[in-house]
Amino acid sequence: MDVIDTLLNRNSHARLTEPGPDEEALSLILRAAARAPDHGRLRPWRFVVVLGERRAVLGQCFAQCLTINGISDPARLEKAANAPLRAPLIIAGLVHAVPHDKISREEQGHAVAAALHGAQLAAESLGFGCIWRTGGYATDPLVIEALGGAPGDQVVGFLYLGTREGPSKLLPDEPLEAVTHYF
Ligand SMILES: Cc1cc2nc3c(=O)[nH]c(=O)nc-3n(C[C@H](O)[C@H](O)[C@H](O)COP(=O)(O)O)c2cc1C
Repeated sequence: MDVIDTLLNRNSHARLTEPGPDEEALSLILRAAARAPDHGRLRPWRFVVVLGERRAVLGQCFAQCLTINGISDPARLEKAANAPLRAPLIIAGLVHAVPHDKISREEQGHAVAAALHGAQLAAESLGFGCIWRTGGYATDPLVIEALGGAPGDQVVGFLYLGTREGPSKLLPDEPLEAVTHYF
């Protein structure tokens, strides 16, 4: 797909099924992510690929987060446990901020967000569906630890990737006048 086409037509898709990206496609997606703009080349991103049975392990971790926070509603626990099963493959994009006197943690988080957008666009151009999710789990220390992150790391996004199931949603009009002006 042409780059402009991909940029203008990217569309999140929540219902995802097999097949997910294979090793070759995943490598392209991650390489695209790692080409994101990155002030100081600090490489503040960490990508954790969750697939196959490991998705259920992540789901158990999500459910445990709720339990620790006093939530015992079985429906909520089940929903949390099943959440990672909504796609064949998930990329968790973490910010692992590097101490720096000029480049803030916030700015490093922006680089990770740009990386995840690059991954989404690459997935889209390869024909996969994708959706970026966060939720309370993204900042939960239990999840960060389970993903192999360091204390203080944060999940900027869980990218759920797979083959689109069902029709794509309509792209909204984007009235640029409302968000753009000339200085
Ligand atoms: C930082 C971030 C976090 C998000 N978290 C969620 C989420 O937890 N659940 C969700 O349904 N959508 C979430 N979204 C929104 C979807 O990824 C998607 O952008 C939205 O459904 C609009 O669809 P579109 O990307 O096709 O415009 C998040 C987006 C961003 C950028």
